Parts: sequence; C-alpha cells; structure tokens
Amino acid sequence: MKVTIVGAGNVGATAADVIASRSIASDVTLLDIKEGFAEGKALDIMQTATTRGFNTRVVGSTSDYSKTSNSDVVVITSGIPRKPGMTREELIGINAKIVKDVTKSILEYSNNPIFIVVSNPMDSMTYLTLNSSGLDKKRVIGMGGALDSSRFKTYISLALNKPANDIHAMVIGGHGDTTMIPLSRFAKYNGLSLSNFLSESKIDEVVKSTMVGGATLTKLLGTSAWYAPGSSIAYVVDSVLNNHNRIIPCSVYLDGEYGFSDICIGVPCVIGKNGVEKIISLDLNDKEKSIFSKSVDVVNSMNQSLLNHL
Ligand code: NAI
Ligand code: 2OP
Repeated sequence: MKVTIVGAGNVGATAADVIASRSIASDVTLLDIKEGFAEGKALDIMQTATTRGFNTRVVGSTSDYSKTSNSDVVVITSGIPRKPGMTREELIGINAKIVKDVTKSILEYSNNPIFIVVSNPMDSMTYLTLNSSGLDKKRVIGMGGALDSSRFKTYISLALNKPANDIHAMVIGGHGDTTMIPLSRFAKYNGLSLSNFLSESKIDEVVKSTMVGGATLTKLLGTSAWYAPGSSIAYVVDSVLNNHNRIIPCSVYLDGEYGFSDICIGVPCVIGKNGVEKIISLDLNDKEKSIFSKSVDVVNSMNQSLLNHL
C-alpha cells in the first residue's frame, strides 16, 4: 500500500515518520516544493528503520509527481501554518491555490486515490479538494476531528488524573477555535459519564481548553503543532489502509445528514478501505443542534470566500 504526503514540513514529515515506524504502509512518498527538503526528510526517516525495526520504504521528491503514481492514499499538508495570533481561516488565500494545484497534479498519476486533507482552513480545503477532484464524496476526508478529539481526551484525562486511553470522547463541527464542538455529553471514562466525576464548571473548562488547543500550542511553539497532528493523520490512514472501520470524527461531505447539504464538516464516520464507509447519526439535543448549525454557517461563509481566492 502506498501513501503520498504532499508537504514535507512539520506535520507532513511527522505523519510520514509515524506511518513508517508503525509499518502502516509499505511505501511512503514525500513531496515538497522546497528543493531537497522532502528527499532529506525521507532519507532521515529511512535511516531510523534498523533502530526502530520497520521496512517501509520512504522516498522524497521535489515536486516530481511521477513519483506519486498509483498512490492508494494521498495526504495534503502543503501550505502555510498559522503563526501566533492568526486564525486557521486567515490561511485561506494562500492555501486554496496550493491545495487545488496539488490535487490536480496528483490526479495526473493516481486514478482514484483517497485524499486526506489537512491544510487549513481544513473544512474548506476538503470541500475544495472534493469539488476540484471530481472524486466520489467517500474518497475525500478532512482530518481535524481526530486531532481535536485526541486533545479533548488529553484534557479530560488531565482533569480526571486517569489514563487517556480509558477515555472516549469526540469533537464534531468545524476545525476552528470557535466552530469545533467537543461533545461533553457523549464523553465517557470507562463507560461512565463525566458528570459522575467532574463539576459542570470543570467540564466547561476542559471544553474551552480543547477549543483553543491548537492556539495554545501555536503560542508556545511559534508555529502550529506537529506531533499530535502527524499522529492523528497516521491514525486515519491506518483505518483506511488496514480497513479497521474505526469511528473517527472527520470532515466529510454532507448530503442531508444532520440536516445539511453541500458542505464538508466534522461528523463521526466509519473509516475503512473505501474511505468514508458510513456517516454516523448522533442523537444531538436542541442545544447541540443549534451549535452545530452555527458551525455550519461559519464553514459555509468560508466556502463562499473560496471563489475569491482561486
Ligand atoms: P510547514 O510550513 O512546516 O510545512 C508546509 C510545507 O508545505 C512546507 O515545507 C512547504 O515548502 C510545503 N509547500 C508549500 N507549497 C507547496 C506546494 N505547492 N507543493 C508542495 N509543497 C508545498 O507547515 P505545517 O506545520 O506542516 O502545517 C501544514 C498545514 O497543515 C498548515 O496549513 C497547517 O495550518 C495545517 N494543519 C492542520 C491541522 C489539522 O488538524 N487539520 C493540524 C496542524 C496543521
Ligand atoms: C492545529 O489544530 C493549527 O490546525 C492546527 O494544531
């Protein structure tokens, strides 16, 4: 199984590293417009094969798309990340053009790949990739909910002082500081609701920390985070390539689900060998429905502004 990652920066290279080290794919191709950059990262990762015990072949290239031919999965992480104080939405002008060009170049060498879109603003970039590729809606997946959910689980585990892997929780809606929806009502510690262990105000605090989870790291690091994003990409790629059919919140095209159409936004999906195998319908209460609807409005208005940038 072959994975191509376009953009060998912090997030793309970390995803390649996790995919290789966990033997999720047999081949990983990294591409970047920066001369020599992807080749260097690929070689560096390959040189960890014997000390970490994997046989994945990682190759790099400076924009030679023939190296990406017959990819099963293509991850788009090319573009600019946000700097402290910037929102993900402010990246749209530069990243829309990059994502559109990358999608076109990939399709010259791979017939029917599954795209995993990461570049921000991710929900709009996913919508753009779907529309410009002409691929089936099941084959274009935006990665954001997997990351936001892992941040939510981390903050819950810190509040409870319990292991993160004993916690199940998800974040739906847009991948933005104000558009994401950490679903605290659905979150569980070993099958038990959070309200058994945490006060309402503590749960609110966890939700707020999750929503600004990316911004907190951007402030600390001076650029956006990469370990959790790279690992979350690998988690989604693994579910596709190894047909795990995991339920993962992903930004996918809605065609009536949740009462909305013609938008890509985060909802829980079964992710398997065909991409989006199924969209799971959650029984949201009125408050959650209203927050989801506001998130849809923000993502829709960003999608409208896409046209001005292409
Ligand atoms: P980075 O700056 O470290 O890497 C981006 C790479 O893309 C650079 O190496 C650059 O040379 C390359 N690039 C630019 N134009 C290109 C093109 N036309 N073809 C090939 N390569 C090209 O940035 P980082 O931190 O890796 O972030 C990448 C993107 O991912 C950003 O838009 C960021 O906001 C987004 N992101 C999304 C997350 C999510 O959950 N959806 C999480 C973290 C970051
Ligand atoms: C993140 O959530 C900025 O999307 C990026 O870290």
